[in-house]
Amino acid sequence: PVGAQEWVPDQPRSIDELKSAAAGCEGCELYENATQTVFGRGAEHARIVFVGEQPGDVEDQRGLPFVGPAGRLLREAVDDAGIDPADLYITNAVKHFRFELRGKRRIHQTPGPAHIVACRPWIVAEFSLLKPELVVLLGATAGKALLGPSFRVTQQRGKLLPWPASAQHPEDFPVAEIQAMATIHPSAVLRADDRDTAYRGLVDDLKVAAAAVS
Ligand code: URA
Ligand code: SF4
Repeated sequence: PVGAQEWVPDQPRSIDELKSAAAGCEGCELYENATQTVFGRGAEHARIVFVGEQPGDVEDQRGLPFVGPAGRLLREAVDDAGIDPADLYITNAVKHFRFELRGKRRIHQTPGPAHIVACRPWIVAEFSLLKPELVVLLGATAGKALLGPSFRVTQQRGKLLPWPASAQHPEDFPVAEIQAMATIHPSAVLRADDRDTAYRGLVDDLKVAAAAVS
C-alpha cells in the first residue's frame, strides 16, 4: 500500500479537518470494501486518548468508533475506573473495517502489519493536534501499531510506559512527554470464559490510567 501520508493535510488546524481529509483516504486497499472511514472522536482537549484496533461492523455502518458492543463495555469500564468521559478521545489504529464475506455476514479480520503501517500517519496527525498526556492502547493491534511488533499485551498491560521513546518509530511522533499504557481490548472481555475476571482486569488497568493523569 502507498500509505495514508499523501491524504494528510500539511498543517491541520482541527480534528474535523483531519476527519474530512481521511474520508477520502485510499492509502491501502481497505477503503474499497468498507462503507466509510471511521475517524476518532472526542474532546480536542482530551488528556487521555484510547486507541482500538479498527472499526467493527456497527462502527463501519455508523461512521463512529466504539459504538457497538465493545464500545458499550468500554464506556462502562471507563466509568467504573473513574475516568471522566469528557476527558477522552477515542480512535483506532486502522480506520477502515477489514472483513471477510461469508454468505451475507461480514466477519471481522485482524488488520495486517501493512494496514497498520499504511494508516499510521492518521494517528500521528491526531496525536500532534491532541497532545494527550496518556495514550491507552487497547489490545495487541494498537500495542503493535504504536510500540512495535514485539509488543505482548500479557506482559506489558497495566504499566505506564515512557512513550514515544519506546515506540517503534519514535521519530514519527512529534509529541514529547506522553506516556502509554496497554490493556486488553474490550472485545477480549466479551469473548472471555470468565468475563467478570477479565472485566475487573480491564478496570484495574484503567485505574492506573486514571491515576496517571490526575
Ligand atoms: N473495536 C475496535 O477496536 N474499535 C472500534 O471502533 C470498535 C470495536
Ligand atoms: Fe487509508 Fe487507513 Fe483506510 Fe487504509 S485503513 S484506506 S490507510 S484510512
